[in-house]
Amino acid sequence: MILSPPLKFKLRPSCSSSRRSRFEFMHPPSALPLKEEIQLEPLTGDSFIRPHLRKLSPYQSILPFEVLSTRLGRKPEDIVKLDANENPYGPPPEVFEALGSMRFPYIYPDPESRRLRAALAVDSGIEADYILVGCGADELIDLIMRCVLEPGDKILDCPPTFTMYEFDAAVNAALVVKVPRNSDFSLDVERISEVVEQEKPKCIFLTSPNNPDGSIIDDKTLLKILNLPILVVLDEAYIEFSGIESKMRWVKKFENLIVLRTFSKRAALAGLRVGYGAFPLSIIEYLWRAKQPYNVSVAAEIAACAALENPVYLENVKVALVQERERLFKHLEEVPFLNPYPSYSNFILCEVTSGRDAKKLKEDLAKMGVMIRHYSNKELAGYVRVSVGKPEHTDALMKSLKLLY
Ligand SMILES: Cc1ncc(COP(=O)(O)O)c(C=O)c1O
Repeated sequence: MILSPPLKFKLRPSCSSSRRSRFEFMHPPSALPLKEEIQLEPLTGDSFIRPHLRKLSPYQSILPFEVLSTRLGRKPEDIVKLDANENPYGPPPEVFEALGSMRFPYIYPDPESRRLRAALAVDSGIEADYILVGCGADELIDLIMRCVLEPGDKILDCPPTFTMYEFDAAVNAALVVKVPRNSDFSLDVERISEVVEQEKPKCIFLTSPNNPDGSIIDDKTLLKILNLPILVVLDEAYIEFSGIESKMRWVKKFENLIVLRTFSKRAALAGLRVGYGAFPLSIIEYLWRAKQPYNVSVAAEIAACAALENPVYLENVKVALVQERERLFKHLEEVPFLNPYPSYSNFILCEVTSGRDAKKLKEDLAKMGVMIRHYSNKELAGYVRVSVGKPEHTDALMKSLKLLY
């Protein structure tokens, strides 16, 4: 145990009385009355932390694979991991070759990720000037908020959805105004319009396909929201599985639209952290100024470029996952205590019915080495989400579920 010496006086000039503040920065003379000493609070590390962050709850991340493996007493390869929407096929072989022959890991990366942005321009059909790359889409969500929000500004969130928006808003001292989705998980556009008018949130986060239910936002709905006086951040982390074209090119037409995408799902690079976004030129300029200069590592850029060199592999993996999603859906429909929702993504949300407990279901499957996602928040307490894996993963899940009938 480390014991720190008791500190008897504050270091920060936070008191209103000038008489007291004089004492705060110097050792008190030995003649200082005892009473004065007792009144001063002890100095603790958390007193330096910004007040809004002292109340922050940590983001609920999944357990690291090795930790999970130890906890379950199973080798990582014996775990059926269907809890974090990862892509079980892994990246194209070109990625491993490129990482293995990386020449300059000891040199800082290109702060502008030029090679990758040029490749993404070809891949997405929008010029590199509109594209910025980040350490995952997660970094870009935070960067957008840091550039857009003053403390006390509001964001509009439409739960249930990706909880990172709410989390980053809290980190950035912003307030979250919620317009819950309808019971079929579609957006309540009328309410969104009212709230934009009344509360004047600065930006809205829309996810299509939405995590956790896999529903998509149609063009008519998106256009209605784009016509409101609000910055629209459209998160397309799972767009490849939807059969719908990305809206990246729309940022040339709409000054209030940002579109985010990622290599985590489509190219199975979740562990290397590469996300990207398309931004109007009038916005991207400020993100360039505010971002960490070396936010995309040499390894991340090399891996993402190599993945884009093999579009056939990426397409085949996507087709395999979409086919497996349909097979998984049919199987889940047959489970007497699950009600799966049709999904345009690489996961399927299921309502847990017949009086079964969703948390217990997750725990029972985990004991059999099958990981699925359960939610601790109120609105999704009775649901689980299952990521789409390889056919053998579906088979293992179904076998384990049958043991619980
Ligand atoms: C909707 C959504 N957006 C963004 C992300 C994060 O993407 P990245 O891995 O690029 O940070 C996720 C991750 O699961 C997600 O579900």
